[in-house]
Amino acid sequence: MKIQNVIEENAESVVKTVLGKAKSFHRRHGTDRAARSTFGYFTRHPVAPLNQRRLRMLADSAQERSQSLGRPLRVLDLGCGGGVITCTIAALGHQTLGLDLSRDEVRMAKLFATEETLSGKFLRADLLKDPDWEKQSEEVLGGKPDLVTLAYALHHLPEVESVIERLSWWLGPDSLLLVNEENPRSPLFRLKHLVRTWIQKDTETEWHRSFEGWKAILHEAGFAIASPPVGADMIPALDRLLPERCWSLVFTAQLNRAER
Ligand SMILES: C[S@@+](CC[C@H](N)C(=O)[O-])C[C@H]1O[C@@H](n2cnc3c(N)ncnc32)[C@H](O)[C@@H]1O
Repeated sequence: MKIQNVIEENAESVVKTVLGKAKSFHRRHGTDRAARSTFGYFTRHPVAPLNQRRLRMLADSAQERSQSLGRPLRVLDLGCGGGVITCTIAALGHQTLGLDLSRDEVRMAKLFATEETLSGKFLRADLLKDPDWEKQSEEVLGGKPDLVTLAYALHHLPEVESVIERLSWWLGPDSLLLVNEENPRSPLFRLKHLVRTWIQKDTETEWHRSFEGWKAILHEAGFAIASPPVGADMIPALDRLLPERCWSLVFTAQLNRAER
């Protein structure tokens, strides 16, 4: 069997295992609002299938990067929420730290890792205000991250440019940013956004941008996008036919060596 197939099979079975653990964790803690927002979102919510697919895309990207470097990675998962992505990447054998602003999310993430014997570590910090989350992350990971995941996190940051700028000063030219964002050009995302704004009038403001919008912000800070985005959607086959219209996009960025 080819090495690529072995890696993909490994990622598939690890994702399945962690999702199983998320499901049983949710059964035990589902009355806690913080558990619903992550563990229900990945296992029971109407868009859980989409979340499971983006989890798989992120796991596959981490495996590809690890394969190209020939070693396990140091991974920093920014805006990690309840830590399902952090713990999945950790379960693939990478040294992984999840960072989040919310005390409740970090509490749940730590509990999930402990109860389900998963190895992700977690740190509470504000990406916009705390002066030294880079230093703290480096201490936990034992060096700068090889991979920084930003899954559904950037659109929560009003001053997103300052965070991207900080990453550009901190990271080395071989570090990769793995960005996963909802896509305002997707018909289903627009519909969801409309329904949610109508039903949950108290929803906090979000700053969604198109792929081109994120690309421009990253480019301004010296990052180049490595390849076109890959997409996942609830509409079957849309990811193959019109990836740029998919609800959830994943793309990688790396510091542009020429500009350093
Ligand atoms: C939609 S959740 C994403 C969770 C997970 N990454 C995922 O993809 O399912 C966004 C997370 O970003 C966190 N967040 C928002 N503003 C932040 C900030 N200034 N610093 C750190 N985390 C922040 C929130 O607390 C929340 O857990």
